[in-house]
Amino acid sequence: MCVNKLILGDNLEILKAMDSETVDLIYLDPPFFSNRNYEVIWGDEGEIRSFQDRWSGGIDQYIAWLKERVVEMHRLLKPTGSIFLHCDWHADAYIRVDILDRIFGQHKLINQIAWCYTSAANTKHRLPQKHDTIFWYAKEDNYTVNIDEIRIPYNTKTEANYKEGLKGSGTFYDGKIKSDEGILNEKGKVPEDWWSDIAIAARYPKNSPNNIGYPTQKPEALLERIIKCASNEVDLVLDPFVGGGTTVAVADKLKRKWIGIDQSVAAVKVTDLRLRRQHDIFSQPYELKLRKYDYNTVRNQDAFEFEAWIIKQFGGTPNITQRNDLGIDGKAAGGAPIQVKRSDSVPRDVIDRFLSAVQRYDKRLFEKNRAAGKPAGHIIAFSFGKGAVAEAARLKNKEGIIIDLKKVNDIIDYGSGPKVLITSKELEDYKYLLEASAESDSGIEFYSWDFDHNPEEGFKADIVIDKDGKQVKKFEPGEHSIAVEAVDREGLEGAGELTLKVKATE
Ligand SMILES: C[S@@+](CC[C@H](N)C(=O)[O-])C[C@H]1O[C@@H](n2cnc3c(N)ncnc32)[C@H](O)[C@@H]1O
Repeated sequence: MCVNKLILGDNLEILKAMDSETVDLIYLDPPFFSNRNYEVIWGDEGEIRSFQDRWSGGIDQYIAWLKERVVEMHRLLKPTGSIFLHCDWHADAYIRVDILDRIFGQHKLINQIAWCYTSAANTKHRLPQKHDTIFWYAKEDNYTVNIDEIRIPYNTKTEANYKEGLKGSGTFYDGKIKSDEGILNEKGKVPEDWWSDIAIAARYPKNSPNNIGYPTQKPEALLERIIKCASNEVDLVLDPFVGGGTTVAVADKLKRKWIGIDQSVAAVKVTDLRLRRQHDIFSQPYELKLRKYDYNTVRNQDAFEFEAWIIKQFGGTPNITQRNDLGIDGKAAGGAPIQVKRSDSVPRDVIDRFLSAVQRYDKRLFEKNRAAGKPAGHIIAFSFGKGAVAEAARLKNKEGIIIDLKKVNDIIDYGSGPKVLITSKELEDYKYLLEASAESDSGIEFYSWDFDHNPEEGFKADIVIDKDGKQVKKFEPGEHSIAVEAVDREGLEGAGELTLKVKATE
């Protein structure tokens, strides 16, 4: 079963449904408390709703909104777990005193980290506000901590930042700094509680993993330091405000398990595309939970995977072995057997055979359910034929036996992803205008482009977010395989492909 999950929804509901003491590390970067439009990042329905929830009642409402979520996060942490709450001057004092001290206890504050950065500022009446606050609280005293893992080598321009050709910003640690004992540790220096060696996303080259192109993206180096410091490999890292997915992308690279939640379809899909872009043989599989499922994907799943998956969606437990002699694929929450048919118009004889299987499977349970007026068993299928429906009704009315006929779309909602078209037009020497257009009932959220598409590797976005579906790009002479994915407002996606033949001009 997949531990790694990317979930669309209000984190409060999702956190409430999770088991206590299962998470090792929580990083959260909630929307800041500011009544400013730039705070709306994705601009989709889910986000705007959440924005209104938080803001309408001022700071008290914001704190109440965040507090109920942090209460759940505290419950989810293992005794050795920690939380890192990222915020800024708008609300940091309130968050520390009214939320974290109350829930975790004042003495569980490990560090108040200042993440310092520079960016353009034009303030005349105050100093530019150029640091964020990250509160690190532990659940108990024996929390996980690996200070040696985050030492900064002496004499190096620190951080992966520089690998990407980062311009300006950030200090670096000069040599000859002694550790507390007066001896240089060969791994380097422990960072203080102020970090000025990690630049903001906007300083990275456009479209690099650190700068996918939305405003609140946090740099990978920041999450790398936090995750290495306060978790171990295979630990579970949770980010309930996952945004563009920095936390889960880094957790995956560092071999941690992870769960990411966001209320915005755009955020969840950007994260999904980002994980697919960094996918390699070491990447772990993950489950993407949207509100709707793509009909074709559901329909074309491997039969055994489909059985197990739909039984879980139904709240049941699938059989571990591939086939039970009686054709029973799992059990419902109350123990009643389930059979899954990955077909339409299930005929009557399926009911007859299932009924005798159910009786043989557990006679006592069968009689108990019959006496209690509960279902003797459940058949899950895409649809049922008239004969099957009539037989189930007859059994119920005449014999008091309930065989529950459950349609897949009573368990999950599904829809069809957008249909996509790409066109190309040569503008001037090797420069092309590429235009994608797509249709979907819910409307298109954004497009993503893979300019060097290799079907075997899957879709690897070069441009993750493109709201208009228009790109102007220069190509080398030769044949180029270009793929685009359109994501609709439900999070369903559709793909289009184009082979572009660029002739060398004399
Ligand atoms: C500041 S951004 C997070 C950015 C992220 N750290 C990154 O590096 O990309 C905050 C995110 O919280 C999401 N959000 C706001 N309210 C939410 C809620 N109630 N449940 C889940 N996500 C929510 C927003 O959609 C937004 O993507």
